[in-house]
Amino acid sequence: MLYLLDTANVKEIKRLCNIYPIDGVTTNPTLVSKEKMDFRQLFTQLKEILGPDKMIHVQTLGKSAEDIVKEGEILNKFLGENLYVKIPVSPYGIKAIQILSQKGIKTTATAVFTPQQALIAARAGADFVAPYVNRLDNIIGDGVEVVSEIIKEFKIYNLKTKVVAASFKNLEQIHKASQVGTHAVTVPPELFEKLLEHPLTDSAIRKFEKDWEEVYGKGKIVS
Ligand code: E4P
Repeated sequence: MLYLLDTANVKEIKRLCNIYPIDGVTTNPTLVSKEKMDFRQLFTQLKEILGPDKMIHVQTLGKSAEDIVKEGEILNKFLGENLYVKIPVSPYGIKAIQILSQKGIKTTATAVFTPQQALIAARAGADFVAPYVNRLDNIIGDGVEVVSEIIKEFKIYNLKTKVVAASFKNLEQIHKASQVGTHAVTVPPELFEKLLEHPLTDSAIRKFEKDWEEVYGKGKIVS
């Protein structure tokens, strides 16, 4: 499963990429606007941090297929190979996905809430679809069930489109999405770090240190 960071915060992306096996970043207009900086500068910095191996999913804002395609082409020129143009699944968004995918530009269909939206996006040529788990849970839906149904239908119809489950607010949602075989999750930094936390891990580490120090004193094996 791929781990992506759902943020546009340069400092956090840099810090977490330095520690964890992070595969890339997803942004959306809300996340970018939170940073309150020039977006060109922001994407330049993200490009530098993510380097040649990590993906960057950037959302378009166009209100017609033509505008989205133009945005996608500009972003592609600037961010290159690792870019996935994130496009909401409106009718003109689907048209833009078809055009961009025919041009060889990678796309992620976003704001996905039903398996049929995902299927249409996949048929249009999307490389990823992003179902919003927490936003579905919030309306008494079952976000992870939708992720699971999308994965099933992609298998049944032998579609190569992958699922990047998104919009997480707690660890249980991430855990359950991984259990149904999502190809990727995109997680806010503060939640991502919690994935590794466990009080028993902390107390195990403390006990190992204490036992060692009682016999060998402070210090490490490698001095
Ligand atoms: C993914 O890329 C989405 O834009 C994001 O996960 C939405 O999350 P939210 O529901 O917390 O805004």
